[in-house]
Amino acid sequence: MKIIGTGSALPEKEVTNDMLAGFLETSDSWITTRTGIQTRRLLSKETLSELAITAAQNAIKSSGLNPEDIDYLICSNVANSYVSPSLSSIILAPLGCCCPCIDLNGACAGFIYSLDMADAFFKTGRAKNILIVAAEEPSRFCNWHERETSVLFGDGAGAVVLTEGEGFKDFRVTADTHTDVLYYKRSLEVTPYDRVEEKTMPLVMQGREVFKLAVRACIKDVDVMLERNNMTGEDIDMYLLHQANMRIIESIREHLGQPKEKFPTNLQKYGNTSSASIPILMDELSRAGELKDGMTLLLSAFGGGFVTGITIMKWSEIKYEEE
Ligand code: ACO
Repeated sequence: MKIIGTGSALPEKEVTNDMLAGFLETSDSWITTRTGIQTRRLLSKETLSELAITAAQNAIKSSGLNPEDIDYLICSNVANSYVSPSLSSIILAPLGCCCPCIDLNGACAGFIYSLDMADAFFKTGRAKNILIVAAEEPSRFCNWHERETSVLFGDGAGAVVLTEGEGFKDFRVTADTHTDVLYYKRSLEVTPYDRVEEKTMPLVMQGREVFKLAVRACIKDVDVMLERNNMTGEDIDMYLLHQANMRIIESIREHLGQPKEKFPTNLQKYGNTSSASIPILMDELSRAGELKDGMTLLLSAFGGGFVTGITIMKWSEIKYEEE
């Protein structure tokens, strides 16, 4: 398969570190030095499904296909207001698509998990054109009285359209059980048989543990991937890594000994948008003309679970009409 269209959408509301310091015991310098994040976009007037639709429409438009050409829709999403129906069902008809659709929760690695699933559909002839929309509102999982988590996240959506082709070289997705280091628990309805009423637990994160797990897992993924494809860090033109934390990205870059220019980032502007971070970055770079024909890209992400996903692909330039 190959990517033939990209799109993204961000909420209008911008919230800077200084704005957070207005009601949390934190500071711009703490957040910037620990994470690299300067500002983020948070949903206020819009809904997540509206963002997802805009990102998807932009991706379909740039692909040159029509919505009815899409024969599978995958939404990467951790949680939203609806448990059912799925986010993919909610956006399907407004997009003008008429095909099977499913949500996939691969935490922050969900976009790469979705690509991996799409790859299997192409290889088994189940689909010819697949739309992946990663849409996330992690700001809605956080306790906004807690500075440990709320300063890290932002909301957004990114989308790609895939068709048959030879763009992707290899995938690796991994999973392991580490429930305690990163979780968000929602209460369900109480039945007459429940003994205890479970309360919603806004996002709990053991930051240092997650940091170590993330760096270790990403480095392992990159090493395995390069070795089994007989490649070195030099062979990758650009590394599109999950935009969680600048220090995690720096640790991976230092391990590989590769120049900063190969590691584009936008977490400064958007914070951690979970599984939407890589497709948003990809869309911005592609529209800015920074992804050239034939470039070799490495995409790598990690997230709650603990899960990871990595892929290596060749880029084919996309032509965007003037907006
Ligand atoms: N402002 C000011 N102080 C803070 C804040 C804040 N927003 N948050 C925590 N602190 C305090 C703590 O209370 C603690 O104080 P103490 O030392 O008095 O107990 C201290 O700062 C902790 O400081 P450090 O140990 O230096 O913090 P650290 O360097 O570990 O950075 C951070 C914390 C940024 C959370 C880091 O651990 C991290 O990035 N972890 C990974 C987070 C991540 O990537 N999460 C997402 C992954 S998965 C996904 O994408 C969903």
